[in-house]
Amino acid sequence: MAAPFRFDRLFIGGEWVEPIDGGVRPSIDPSTGQPWGDVAYGGRGDIDRAVAAAKAAFEGPWRRMPPWERAALLRKFADLYATRVDDLARVEVTDNGRAIRESRADIGIHSQYYHWFASLADKLGGRTIPMDDSVHAFTSRLPIGVVGAIMPWNVPLMGAAWKLGPALAAGCTVVLKPAETTPASSLALAHLFEEAGFPPGVVNVVPGDGPVAGARLVEHPDVAKISFTGEGSTAKAILKAGADTLTRCTFELGGKAPHIIFADADLENALNAATGSAWALCGQTCALGSRVLVERPIYDRVVEAFRERAGHVRVGMPLDPATHMGPQAHLQQLEKTLSYIDIGKQQGAELAAGGSRIERDGMAGGYFVEPTVFANVSPDMRIAQEEIFGPVASLIPFDGEDEAVAIANGTSYGLAAGLWTRDTGRAHRVAARIEAGMVWVNTYRYIRWSTPYGGVKASGWGRENGIEGLDPFLETKTTIVSTTGTFPNPYAN
Ligand code: NAI
Ligand code: MG
Repeated sequence: MAAPFRFDRLFIGGEWVEPIDGGVRPSIDPSTGQPWGDVAYGGRGDIDRAVAAAKAAFEGPWRRMPPWERAALLRKFADLYATRVDDLARVEVTDNGRAIRESRADIGIHSQYYHWFASLADKLGGRTIPMDDSVHAFTSRLPIGVVGAIMPWNVPLMGAAWKLGPALAAGCTVVLKPAETTPASSLALAHLFEEAGFPPGVVNVVPGDGPVAGARLVEHPDVAKISFTGEGSTAKAILKAGADTLTRCTFELGGKAPHIIFADADLENALNAATGSAWALCGQTCALGSRVLVERPIYDRVVEAFRERAGHVRVGMPLDPATHMGPQAHLQQLEKTLSYIDIGKQQGAELAAGGSRIERDGMAGGYFVEPTVFANVSPDMRIAQEEIFGPVASLIPFDGEDEAVAIANGTSYGLAAGLWTRDTGRAHRVAARIEAGMVWVNTYRYIRWSTPYGGVKASGWGRENGIEGLDPFLETKTTIVSTTGTFPNPYAN
């Protein structure tokens, strides 16, 4: 039997330690609203210890280890991860309420992310640069140093794979700070790094409060880079706090993705994708197709189909394999979603389905909300502009390509977009005009370890995954070597 995970200690420098200026507090199961276990959290002093351990590991064994040995450790970890998918899924689901069927499928492929990044670890060569015969010039790609990974609560283990995979493959060391409400799965992960035999300090996990532990990680002079996923206002605070130490940052800040359905689309498949991606993860994912843009001739049919399908979503206990949609991950998120539903009504959108908290069938203590559909949404309404992070689809009618593109691009965000049409020319035209880091055509939310992920505009800086996902963890060094060793005296005459 695999050893159980413990959550009441921090993982720093390869040891399970008690917090020095944090403590232990209950973590809440969002399906019951009740504490389910005690989890350690760290303060500023604990972050300082973790950064010191990460720095020592970076300057010591990790940087000296040949990259193929680093890769081998990462593969060993990935294999271990694959054997613990069920355990990891149970921990994550208990902490964040995601339906186990979704969570299990997602966590089931994470080991592939680690394997893929492992496969790149020993291929991070530079290039030679054509020069004149007097010099040879080349570049090397070197790990940036200690990375602070600051995580959101919606998909903690996936976020960890996207940050730790490339960081470790690049040769960096990491202090991982999970979100306040979902710390447990990151501590579970630490067990697997320990078991895989990573040198102490290469991966450190310190749960803690954003403004305390997170802020200390950002301002710490020995942290070279922050990889952050979360809210835009937090990213701005991080930029300011990291200014004095010129901390490099990458930001994944969510979105308000348009999912565009043209009248010539394969409607059945478009509806499968659009309804699925509007309510996946109870609406708590950044690439959610939360704005459904529908060409006017099929608008009423699509509204009716959304209304009908909302009735087929089985909302229930996250660990029940029959459940499609669990609760919101924490109370503030439930309150945020319900407040946006009120805003939608006040601004004149038509509530076509859902709209309420669910308190029947033993769900009263949890943070459940109905899959919700707003029709007749105009693009300037707040529910069409701001990220709700709840299962709320806003259906917006449009006439023709130009208007579709104008509405699609008419928010501050630019993470992702989807479009459905049978017209290949239109697919390329519209995809090219959309301001987003990712566009899906006749599919949605299909991503892999190899596909760069990230946004433009207010959706963030930088990319995760893909070859590009390694760039933020590497610095390029240029070396220029004279082939003659001669250097003229500039003051000879
Ligand atoms: P948040 O941005 O406050 O939290 C994300 C992480 O940042 C957490 O680990 C938190 O502890 C940390 N943090 C908070 N303040 C910090 C600071 N001053 N310095 C360093 N780290 C700090 O996000 P929150 O409040 O949990 O969620 C609010 C909204 O953000 C959601 O409703 C959603 O709209 C958006 N969001 C987007 C995500 C995405 O995937 N892009 C993920 C999570 C939230
Ligand atoms: Mg916050």
